[in-house]
Amino acid sequence: MQRNADSKTGGACGEPLRLSYLVRDLISLGVRPGDLLMVHSSLRSLGFVDGGPETVVDALLQALGPQGTLVVPTFTYPTAGNPEFVFDPIHTPSQMGAISEAVRCRPQARRSIHLAHSIAAIGPLAETIATSGGASGWDAESPMRQVFDRNGRYLLLGVPYQNLTAMHLCEVWLGLPYRQPRTSEGRMRQPNGSTTPLISIGTPPLPGHAGSDYNRLGQRMEDAGLVRRGPVGNAIARLLNAHDLRAASRDLTRHDPNGFLQQGPAVTQLTHGHTIQSPKGEHCVLDPTRIYGAA
Ligand SMILES: CC(C)(COP(=O)(O)OP(=O)(O)OC[C@H]1O[C@@H](n2cnc3c(N)ncnc32)[C@H](O)[C@@H]1OP(=O)(O)O)[C@@H](O)C(=O)NCCC(=O)NCCS
Repeated sequence: MQRNADSKTGGACGEPLRLSYLVRDLISLGVRPGDLLMVHSSLRSLGFVDGGPETVVDALLQALGPQGTLVVPTFTYPTAGNPEFVFDPIHTPSQMGAISEAVRCRPQARRSIHLAHSIAAIGPLAETIATSGGASGWDAESPMRQVFDRNGRYLLLGVPYQNLTAMHLCEVWLGLPYRQPRTSEGRMRQPNGSTTPLISIGTPPLPGHAGSDYNRLGQRMEDAGLVRRGPVGNAIARLLNAHDLRAASRDLTRHDPNGFLQQGPAVTQLTHGHTIQSPKGEHCVLDPTRIYGAA
């Protein structure tokens, strides 16, 4: 699926990426009408997109069609621990990138309620998924488990497996001992402006945790042919389903209970494309010089 650098594909040769190019790339990758799709993304990695994040959201919705459901993380964990933080489901921005924020801001989007791990969704399953949860972001009722249990698909758009939240879900589902529930008490803003208590449960790692290496399982799945991989613009996109992830995670930890943990000084290097570091995060790209804003 490697793109020829001088093909007329948009994003190549400095051309801006347009909606039709993105839709075509998503369909070539394997995104299907009717999918339940959770997306983790980096806008920069795509190269310059005509219309910015809105165009990417339009492309995802077009590829999914009216029967498909798009889910994005709108997590707020970077600031949720701040004593002044108040979760406002209507106004609190996603802290998971411009594409997730563009999804959240669509009028038809539904957002779940959680101090740190809310999601936003658009499509026929959006209401069910966004309102399924209790206090935990990870248990059987949670929106993310809904995606997992319905064999949803995960799209990594220019980001590594380190950003695939479903890996964390697998750790919780497998009952790995270093992840234990922790209750946080915060506040939530109501539509009338008042605030009410909001109890949320997370599963942070216990002290002494070696750090996560989710790329390890991702690379294993790629080597086993369980991940569809290809370009979306300049981004390396990876598409996998929850069923395969569940089975692969069970297999990994059966042989090595520390399989999700970093085993050396660095996480596993992905073999396909370039994974490059920036101050904001990691980008998986065909060509590092074509990411938006690259020097
Ligand atoms: C942190 C992260 C979002 C940073 O990625 P990013 O591409 O640098 O940032 P965004 O996706 O927010 O996109 C905004 C950037 O796109 C670029 N951009 C702006 N307009 C653009 C356009 N028209 N076309 C392409 N890129 C554009 C800019 O560099 C902008 O950054 P700036 O606002 O600082 O100028 C990404 O690395 C990441 O981690 N994504 C996954 C998040 C997630 O789902 N986490 C799950 C739990 S770990």
